[in-house]
Amino acid sequence: MFPVDALQIRAARDDDRVPLALLFAAVAEERDGIASEPPIDVEARAASWNLDGSLVAVSNGTIVGSIHIDRSRFGFGEIGMAVSRDRRGRGVGSALLAAAVDWAREQGLHKLSLSVFPHNTAAIALYRKFGFVEEGRRVKHFRRSSGELWDALEMGLLLDETARPWASPTS
Ligand SMILES: CC(C)(COP(=O)(O)OP(=O)(O)OC[C@H]1O[C@@H](n2cnc3c(N)ncnc32)[C@H](O)[C@@H]1OP(=O)(O)O)[C@@H](O)C(=O)NCCC(=O)NCCS
Repeated sequence: MFPVDALQIRAARDDDRVPLALLFAAVAEERDGIASEPPIDVEARAASWNLDGSLVAVSNGTIVGSIHIDRSRFGFGEIGMAVSRDRRGRGVGSALLAAAVDWAREQGLHKLSLSVFPHNTAAIALYRKFGFVEEGRRVKHFRRSSGELWDALEMGLLLDETARPWASPTS
C-alpha cells in the first residue's frame, strides 16, 4: 500500500500549473465528483490556475492531489479539491484538507465552505471527518452535459468567529 508518510503537502508553484490542469481534466472526465466536465482546455486551465491558496500533494515527484482555497473578501474560503483516482482512499485527501485548514487559520479566515454533490459519499465522509456540517441544499442546481440537473450540498466549517484576515484578498 502507498505509504502516506511519503507524501509531501506544499504550496503550489508555477511549474505545477500543467500537472494541476492535467489532474483536473482527468477528474472532470469522471463526470462525477467535480462540477466541471470535459472538454477541459488544459493549456488555458494551466495558464489561469490561481496558485494563491493552492496546495499540492506530491508523491515521488508526482502531483497526486490538490486543494484550492478561494479566499473571499468576506472572511470565508471556498474549497475545491481532487485526488488522482489511483491514489484515493489512502489519506491524500485528509492530508490536503488538514493542510488547508492550517492555511486558512494562518490567513485569518473565520470559515471554510464548499459545495458537494449529494452522491459523493467519499467527499462527504472526508468533510464530516474534519467537522464540516451540512448547511443547506441547492436543488437542481447544476446542469450536467447529460441534461440532468444535480443538487448540491453546502457544507461549512467554522474555524474562529473572531478571526480577521491580515492580508487583503484581491477578490
Ligand atoms: C473526495 C476525495 C478528494 C477524497 O480523497 P481521498 O484521498 O480518497 O480521501 P482519504 O483517503 O483521505 O479519505 C478520507 C475519508 O473519506 C472517507 N472515504 C474515503 N473513501 C471513501 C469511499 N470510497 N466511500 C466512503 N467514504 C470514503 C473515509 O471516511 C476517509 O477517512 P478515514 O480514512 O479516516 O476512514 C477524492 O475521492 C476525490 O478526489 N474525488 C474526486 C473529486 C471530488 O469528488 N472532489 C471533491 C468535490 S466536492
